[in-house]
Amino acid sequence: MSAEESHHDSAEVAARVERRWATISVIIIVGMAMLAAFAGIHRATMPQPRVETTDPSRLHLSGEFVESNLGSMLETNGSVTVRAIGQQYSFTPACILAPADTPITLRATSADVVHGILIQGTNVNTMLVPGYISEQPLRFARTGDYLMPCQEFCSFGHEGMWGKVKVIDKTEFADRAKGGGRPSCVGQ
Ligand code: CUA
Repeated sequence: MSAEESHHDSAEVAARVERRWATISVIIIVGMAMLAAFAGIHRATMPQPRVETTDPSRLHLSGEFVESNLGSMLETNGSVTVRAIGQQYSFTPACILAPADTPITLRATSADVVHGILIQGTNVNTMLVPGYISEQPLRFARTGDYLMPCQEFCSFGHEGMWGKVKVIDKTEFADRAKGGGRPSCVGQ
């Protein structure tokens, strides 16, 4: 084999290897895009499938996030909706009372800057962006206290921004929710 032929051969090998790796990287990219789409559609990750907006400067005046509507509410179908607001530097309500073994929908937003809400031991870990409503489904298998820190730096008081979720037995919760009130654990 002449030097020229051997050069030609190695160029062909290089081209083949390059094509192979190009194909593999395209497969990886397409696979990851499909995985992201699958997770998004199943509401397991951000971005959320729908965007709901709200006016952060008017939260306390009217609509879903007025103070009397915050906290846990037992729905007629047996599920629970929890509404909360994050603001510098606390959550309202500071303690969320929730039933165990019950489908819960958390709906939360921010009244000022970007905060985060994380509930230990669950997959709730979402940002609270002023102007947008974050919604996450959750379910507690066990009763007990779960810490709920702000997980997004929101200025000087960030490290002191903590809330709590108190999970109680579902019959006890139903008892306390009788009459359509908002059972609470604030101050307990
Ligand atoms: Cu709110 Cu960090």
